[in-house]
Amino acid sequence: MTALLHDIAHIGHVELLTPEPERSLWFFTEILGLTRCGADGDSVYLRTYDDYEHHSLTLTAHRTPGIRATSLRASSQEALERRVLAVKDAGLGLGWRDGEPGRGPTYAFHDPDGHELRIYWESQWYEAPPELRPALKNQPQAFPGHGVGVRRLDHINFLAAEAAANGAFVRDVLGARVTEQIMLDSGRISAQWLHFANKSYDLVYTDDWSGASGRLHHIAFATNTREDILRAADICLENGVFIETGPHKHAIQQTFFLYVYEPGGNRIELCNPLTRLILAPDWRTITWTEAERAKGQAWGLKTIPSFHSHGTPPIQAAESAVDDQPGRDGGDAA
Ligand SMILES: [Fe+2]
Repeated sequence: MTALLHDIAHIGHVELLTPEPERSLWFFTEILGLTRCGADGDSVYLRTYDDYEHHSLTLTAHRTPGIRATSLRASSQEALERRVLAVKDAGLGLGWRDGEPGRGPTYAFHDPDGHELRIYWESQWYEAPPELRPALKNQPQAFPGHGVGVRRLDHINFLAAEAAANGAFVRDVLGARVTEQIMLDSGRISAQWLHFANKSYDLVYTDDWSGASGRLHHIAFATNTREDILRAADICLENGVFIETGPHKHAIQQTFFLYVYEPGGNRIELCNPLTRLILAPDWRTITWTEAERAKGQAWGLKTIPSFHSHGTPPIQAAESAVDDQPGRDGGDAA
């Protein structure tokens, strides 16, 4: 049993890259219902209506889709300093950065697979302009009432050449805990779900069957209800957004889900995991076998083959993007 360290409070922000910046912006604002709250150069800042911080998504124009960085909010200034020391000890630190709008000093580092992660503490709470003021003072912003109306950025699922090595890093260096995992018949751990607080998962690592490093499987936004996921499927259908699989219910973590591709090519999950929390301080990791996985998702929907092939950036681009990282092997395309 691993106890939670509680030095990381939650996922704060993700920077997503898109070769279709205008169409991706349309997807996130008009389809998902995020609010644009600023821009800088090739980047646009977006927020869900329940973000207490300035923004949770930066959308940046780039030649390929993918993920540039994932930011985690520390639980305190002292917690930030402790985790920075731990990351430096692990030899994966990149250094301090100026924070994004609304955020203070931010320490950047890599996980073993090369995904950039960042930790920060200082955060300026969002103050809605008059036209976005909520009726209730315990909500940061008025409910947008259009599109899917997602509540929050929920989790990030990375692809990694060695999922277990990265899960171990997040567990041992950042103080997370593995709530669920998949073990192949060979004994290899091929996927791990990790959490920092009571949500049952925040970061996920899945083996990249191509052998490449640094890729994204999906980012997920949570909705208020399961019905919102069904409604999201209709909204995506009507607007020509590619639906990859779902709606259905995952066996692992029991999340109600819909997977779509935003116009830039990144896989986006709309999920409803809101009723499931991990309260047990002595939680015992759930391990799923190959035979159990072969049964499909909770109600029998088989895992779609593209789940094992589609990631961003696409494989050729992934190989060139990691070429300049020391000690990194782009791997063979499957
Ligand atoms: Fe997910």
